[in-house]
Amino acid sequence: MKNAQALQEPLPNIHALSKDEQKKLMRKKFTATSRFQNEFGKDAVELDCGEYAQKLRQEVIRLLTAKGVPVPDGDLENLHKTLSPEMKEYNFDDGVNKVTTFLYDTDDQFIDTYHDMVKLCLQKHFPYPFYFQATTTIRIHCPGGKHSDHYPRYHTDINYGHPPEEINLWLPLTRPLAPQYHGFRRTDVENTRHILHEFNYDFDKLIERVVQDKPFNLDIHKVAPEVTTQFGKMLAFDSRCLHTGEPLDKHTRVSMDIRIIPVADFNALDLEYQGTGRRKMRYVPGQAYYPLSSDRVYP
Ligand SMILES: [Fe+2]
Repeated sequence: MKNAQALQEPLPNIHALSKDEQKKLMRKKFTATSRFQNEFGKDAVELDCGEYAQKLRQEVIRLLTAKGVPVPDGDLENLHKTLSPEMKEYNFDDGVNKVTTFLYDTDDQFIDTYHDMVKLCLQKHFPYPFYFQATTTIRIHCPGGKHSDHYPRYHTDINYGHPPEEINLWLPLTRPLAPQYHGFRRTDVENTRHILHEFNYDFDKLIERVVQDKPFNLDIHKVAPEVTTQFGKMLAFDSRCLHTGEPLDKHTRVSMDIRIIPVADFNALDLEYQGTGRRKMRYVPGQAYYPLSSDRVYP
């Protein structure tokens, strides 16, 4: 009935809510128990990604090489040694360096590998139809990049417009190097909730604080351990967990973010979610999500 109604009239957009309504909604969403927590009994879990870490790593090396950024000996972990300072420099506002922007556009071969992974790997771990990000986010973080003090900057993707029902998949394409591992930290839902309570679930205030107050970020480190996921696995986590990258010490880290949302949860949404970034992406199939759900990737 709900779906039939949804087809007839568009859902209200989250940004049409008043500030107080948004805060109330987020308080409710962050207090609920998620499907992820029910299924896994925790807020994060490491899952096998079989041969796909290696396949996607090779794809990234191939794409970089094709775009004029060779990776000597396929040694992604040492890519920073051959990159120019300009390629490593971060845009201070969005924390993206130039070499990462080279992977904004991929190609059919990369997309086929990604879709194979959705079909043959993700579907095994999440055995129900789900929508998945049409374009994965690939990140390259190098030591020594100018403006790397953009990081740490804690956030949840929900702060930037994503639906709280999403599941985050974080897949390292490089090997962790102790003691820093990947330069990536995550806290759990309960600690996130405590922090958001302090801000009365006002995301604008949280964002302002993490941007301006470095010690505030460093304080969250105490409840956000280093992610140590081995190459060949991926970290799946409840999207309500605060997380951040950190400046890298000694090695280059390449990782992929994939967000998925169970079709049942998507259909139960009573709001349309939309990004706050430059592109104002709507979180619907055909925009942020691939038009077809996971069970229909191959027509
Ligand atoms: Fe994020």
